[in-house]
Amino acid sequence: MRSNNSNYGKKSDKYNLNKQVYNDLALLYEYSAKVIVKRRINQMDNMEARAEHQTRKKFNLVYTISAALGVILAIVLITWLIHFRDGFGTEDPNRIFNWHPLLMIFGMVCCYSQSILIFRTGRNLPKKKLKLIHMFLNLTAFILSVLGIIAAFASHNLKNPPVANLYSLHSWIGLTTAIMFGLQFVIGFTGFLFPGYPGAIRAAILPIHTASGVGIFLFAIIAAITGMVEKIIFGLKDTYESLPAEALLANFMGMVLILFGVLVMYLVTAFEYKRVPIAEDTMILQSHTN
Ligand code: HEM
Repeated sequence: MRSNNSNYGKKSDKYNLNKQVYNDLALLYEYSAKVIVKRRINQMDNMEARAEHQTRKKFNLVYTISAALGVILAIVLITWLIHFRDGFGTEDPNRIFNWHPLLMIFGMVCCYSQSILIFRTGRNLPKKKLKLIHMFLNLTAFILSVLGIIAAFASHNLKNPPVANLYSLHSWIGLTTAIMFGLQFVIGFTGFLFPGYPGAIRAAILPIHTASGVGIFLFAIIAAITGMVEKIIFGLKDTYESLPAEALLANFMGMVLILFGVLVMYLVTAFEYKRVPIAEDTMILQSHTN
């Protein structure tokens, strides 16, 4: 009877010991699993942060090159118009005309490019502020372009005898660009700023607004290139063939303009540079829906 009891006691001790070992092992397993998962998450966070850093570095590099090209373009353009084309004026039709390329390139190329890039260059600013900067840059681009087109019309009309308006391919592309830009501005302003369309409509037109914005920028670059070609051929006539200094400068300016356009379009369309919404955007959204 006694030996039975002691056997039973030994068995239950062994059972308790096994259970404890089993529990300890389970705890150890759970702990190591947690440590491994935590380490994996840290590794993934680090990889993500590193990839994000590399993307930012690439964006900054391409943007700096494009900005440098923009500055070169502005310097070469002003040099060309002042040194080779008699500068700017308000009475002589030729000097009035010179405002046209200056204002068109400052408006439709320089201002407009910065306006479409603002959602990437200012990615850390709240969406509301970005929309306002975008609108002001577009408004500036539009005002400069309207003045630029008026300068071209005025110089044609003031010539003796007057020159016909809107006869060239350049003027057709240019006018189409300006009209599309105006429409885009009105739809963008009323849809996204004031009074603002309902959320579902805004969501539906946003991709169209973005795509047509890039399309209009492409049109502006084409208009500027065709305008330059036209002006240099009109200005130099037969001497263009001998590639004088002015032709070299104008050809160089055209190449800079194309490269600038390509880089801006790359920065605007590459998915990897797309702005990720920040906390403040969500707070603004919530305050609108509450
Ligand atoms: C995005 C930029 C540009 C736009 C939207 C644009 C638009 C226009 C428009 C609408 C006209 C017609 C004016 C008229 O018929 O009286 C015109 C004329 C003209 N533009 Fe431009 N322009 C741009 C850039 C340039 C540039 C950079 C040059 C280079 C010098 C230039 C050179 C000319 C010339 C020579 C004319 C007069 C001959 C013509 O009507 O084709 N344009 N432009």
